[in-house]
Amino acid sequence: MKCISFQNLHIVFYLTIFISYRGIYVSCSPNVSTTNSAFKCLPDQTTALLQFKQDFSFQKPNFSYYYYHCSMFSNPYYNDIQPDSYPKMKFWKEEKDCCSWDGVTCHMKTGHVVGLDLSHSWLQGPLRSNSSLFKLHQLQKINLAYNNFTFCHIPSEFGQLSRLTDLILYYSMFSGQIPSEISCLTNLVYLGLSSFKNYDDTSFLYLKRVDLTSFIQNMTNLRRLYLRHVNLSSSVPESLTNLSSLTHLSLGGCGLYGKFPEELFQLPKLEFIQVPCNYLLNGFLPQFQNSSSLRQLNLAITNFSGKLPVSIGHLESLSAFVICQCNFVGPLPSSIWNLSNLSIVDLSFNHFNSHELPSTLGNHAKPNLVALWLRSAQFSGEIPSSIGNLTQLKHLDISYNSLSLPKVNTISELPKFQTLYLASCNLSEFPKFLKTQDQLEHLDLSNNRIEGQIPKWFWGIANKKLDFLDLSGNKLQGSLSVPPLFTSFFDISENNLTGKIHPSFRNWTNLKVLDMSENRFSGTIPQWLGNFGTSLEILNLHGNNIHGSLHQMLTKSSMLHLKKLDLSHNQLRGKVPQFLRNCSKLQVLNLGHNQISDTFPFWLQSMPELQVLVLRQNKFYGPIWHPPKFWSFERLHIMDLSFNNFSGSLPSEYFTDWVAMIQRPCGNTEQLRYVEDKLYPFKHYLNSITVINKGLEMKSMRILTAFTSIDLSNNRFDGEIPSSIGNLQALVVLNLSSNNFTGSIPPSLGNMSELESLDLSRNKLTCRIPQQLTDLTFLEYLNLSQNQLTGPIPRGSQFETFSSSSYVQNPELYGPPLSRICDKEDSPIFHQDNEVESEDGFTWKPVVVGYGFGIVVGFIIGHVTLSQRRSNWFWRSSVGKFIHAAC
Ligand SMILES: *[C@@H]1O[C@H](CO)[C@@H](O)[C@H](O)[C@H]1NC(C)=O
Ligand SMILES: *[C@@H]1O[C@H](CO)[C@@H](O)[C@H](O)[C@H]1NC(C)=O
Ligand SMILES: *[C@@H]1O[C@H](CO)[C@@H](O)[C@H](O)[C@H]1NC(C)=O
Ligand SMILES: *[C@@H]1O[C@H](CO)[C@@H](O)[C@H](O)[C@H]1NC(C)=O
Ligand SMILES: *[C@@H]1O[C@H](CO)[C@@H](O)[C@H](O)[C@H]1NC(C)=O
Ligand SMILES: *[C@@H]1O[C@H](CO)[C@@H](O)[C@H](O)[C@H]1NC(C)=O
Ligand SMILES: *[C@@H]1O[C@H](CO)[C@@H](O)[C@H](O)[C@H]1NC(C)=O
Ligand SMILES: *[C@@H]1O[C@H](CO)[C@@H](O)[C@H](O)[C@H]1NC(C)=O
Repeated sequence: MKCISFQNLHIVFYLTIFISYRGIYVSCSPNVSTTNSAFKCLPDQTTALLQFKQDFSFQKPNFSYYYYHCSMFSNPYYNDIQPDSYPKMKFWKEEKDCCSWDGVTCHMKTGHVVGLDLSHSWLQGPLRSNSSLFKLHQLQKINLAYNNFTFCHIPSEFGQLSRLTDLILYYSMFSGQIPSEISCLTNLVYLGLSSFKNYDDTSFLYLKRVDLTSFIQNMTNLRRLYLRHVNLSSSVPESLTNLSSLTHLSLGGCGLYGKFPEELFQLPKLEFIQVPCNYLLNGFLPQFQNSSSLRQLNLAITNFSGKLPVSIGHLESLSAFVICQCNFVGPLPSSIWNLSNLSIVDLSFNHFNSHELPSTLGNHAKPNLVALWLRSAQFSGEIPSSIGNLTQLKHLDISYNSLSLPKVNTISELPKFQTLYLASCNLSEFPKFLKTQDQLEHLDLSNNRIEGQIPKWFWGIANKKLDFLDLSGNKLQGSLSVPPLFTSFFDISENNLTGKIHPSFRNWTNLKVLDMSENRFSGTIPQWLGNFGTSLEILNLHGNNIHGSLHQMLTKSSMLHLKKLDLSHNQLRGKVPQFLRNCSKLQVLNLGHNQISDTFPFWLQSMPELQVLVLRQNKFYGPIWHPPKFWSFERLHIMDLSFNNFSGSLPSEYFTDWVAMIQRPCGNTEQLRYVEDKLYPFKHYLNSITVINKGLEMKSMRILTAFTSIDLSNNRFDGEIPSSIGNLQALVVLNLSSNNFTGSIPPSLGNMSELESLDLSRNKLTCRIPQQLTDLTFLEYLNLSQNQLTGPIPRGSQFETFSSSSYVQNPELYGPPLSRICDKEDSPIFHQDNEVESEDGFTWKPVVVGYGFGIVVGFIIGHVTLSQRRSNWFWRSSVGKFIHAAC
């Protein structure tokens, strides 16, 4: 994907936007249900309805649906008004006429049930094909949205309800194939289906046997078509342009590709076009007509390109224009600012290359703009002072452009912002206009050049409503004596702040995220730190000068929701604090690069959520295996114990139960998942971590749950490498270098099919290199040097790519790439080579190209110098995946 630039990758963005939900609720209006009981319900209909009721239990669904978007946290367009959610069917009583039941509509004359609205009704359980719902042959409208059908398939029997005009099943936990029988419902006016979509999890609905074109071929009356996150893997059918009554088209995250038919924009009644998160979908905006009804256009995260037509000024009904993360280029036509109904504009992550935001912005004060998102869209110049005329503007993001703000400081009456993102705007001081911004809820001044102390007046505004404050990546100095105590998110990392953690922090009860990493804070961690409100989820003090004895400072804690604790790169001594035992939600623990002197905290093994454990470079000692008490790490997928004094041997069954490292999270590399970070997905607070791979310290952006790594290097482990290590079939990186491991390399290593990096150097390993290692087709790095290995180096597959430095200082090892060739009979090196070629039908070159560019590369993003080829690889596929995951 070309739409975000490399250096901006670490600031990727998204937010739950629910623009599109507005339309949905219209049809859920309870008024539709007729309470007119003049005509008695037919007995068979009562029976059918009561049977239907019995198929379900009633439980309020506790999941939320995410619909990611480019803009950040707050979004005014989320229609917060959720319709009432309650178990409607609970109030269905046999003694009452079924036509009066909540959600049931009967035909005025015949008494047949013609409408059933059970949206938001807490239904739980599968909808089966023998359900008595399908006995209600006269049904015209069915709305089962927002229930939990427990991932069952959509029964094909819907196809028999030939009178259906409305079939609304979205957000109801259906999965699997959409029955082609639905395409027989030629009377459909409103079709709504969606896959279950959570932050990082999708259980797809998909079409098979029929393609989208034939699926909708006979639905000539369609007005609303919602297929969200349904895997269509198709182009957009031209035939949609024949649907002259279409008002709503919502096909977000459907894997659409090809060109979006321009004629669709011209459909006279079309009000909503929402096709976000189809990153292979391309197209251009057409010349718009005066008569257009378009109210919302959402093309976010697609491959739409070209210029914005001046005729966009004809879209008089347009209220939301969202084209973030596309490939649009400049200039931005000023006619857009004439659209009086326009209230949200998101142009983030495009290539406008505009020198000046049109100076007309706000000139006529025509648009009632509420939100303007321009992040990283290649605008330059000064923000025109006419912005002051946009009196409704509450949300502004101009981060990561080349925009400057001097004129803004001179405007006497600015709108009162709630959200202001001014990251990387070349600011060298706190902008003065902030003095009057007393409605601010989110403020981002990160990555500027702001110097000196934080001015006193700033704390004045910060202590009003501010919930999110990001001052990271500046040159701030001095101490931080008065934190903004109402803020729940506070990031001041990467500055030059000094001094101790001030006692007033004690009163900071709303805090969820505190990131003070990479400063020069000193002193000890105060004892009361653990008394931070129970809301604290992320505490990052990485890279400061904090010293003292850890376990004495943190004896008890109320941080029961703690998910990430990073105290690495300080001077902490003592032991691992016991209070962590109570933090059952802990996912990431990084105590690396301190002077902690303790035995292995075995109790960590039973922490249910722990995914990342880094104890690197401390003074830990003793065994990591404890015979009587042993639980396996259930979810751990990154373990770094390197550079300590751990010792002892590992029994052969040591790795037997490490679930997360045995199974790939999705069984499918196409769906990479990330460590959960719902709280602040934009900043990746929870799931960014520094890992060491191939000797390089890499600051990674997000932790993929598919990235699994074990680093036990530089300790004093001895005995044999446990053969159960071969069970870790999801492991990507293994480093056992610089220990005293003896015996042979277990052939079971050949089962670790995802392994990309294997370092066994500097041990006392003997015997031959097992031929099975050539089964590791993803292996990109191998180091077996400085051991006592013997015999020939295996040939074939990835082994053709390693140089002699992978094998040096094994006096009895021979064969290419070492120059030492042995002429013993058991080294038919070239024969083996030929065998491999002829059996598998490929030579080493395609192996190199095809394999070995796996997750490690995708995982390490932007912060290390990657070879040209790899960054290209990343560009092509991994960003694609990443963006897909973001939708
Ligand atoms: C429907 O089928 C399920 C099994 O598929 C069965 O358990 C249930 O009793 C059936 N219900 C009716 C009403 O026939
Ligand atoms: C979507 O469907 C296509 C074709 O059926 C399939 O190749 C692809 O893997 C599916 N994508 C996902 C994410 O399930
Ligand atoms: C649109 O409808 C006309 C008339 O019914 C038909 O001839 C034409 O093939 C249709 N176009 C598409 C793209 O389906
Ligand atoms: C602008 O929005 C208002 C309120 O939603 C609506 O009544 C009006 O018709 C819209 N104007 C146009 C030109 O669509
Ligand atoms: C915007 O509207 C003003 C008058 O309200 C008009 O003079 C101007 O030409 C319009 N601009 C564009 C680009 O349509
Ligand atoms: C914390 O708040 C209490 C009142 O709630 C106040 O008395 C105390 O001075 C505050 N402490 C600090 C260090 O600000
Ligand atoms: C393994 O760890 C050692 C340090 O003990 C380090 O020098 C080496 O680079 C690491 N190997 C890999 C592949 O990261
Ligand atoms: C393997 O490790 C040895 C010793 O640490 C080192 O000298 C050599 O360069 C390493 N080889 C590779 C390919 O990194």
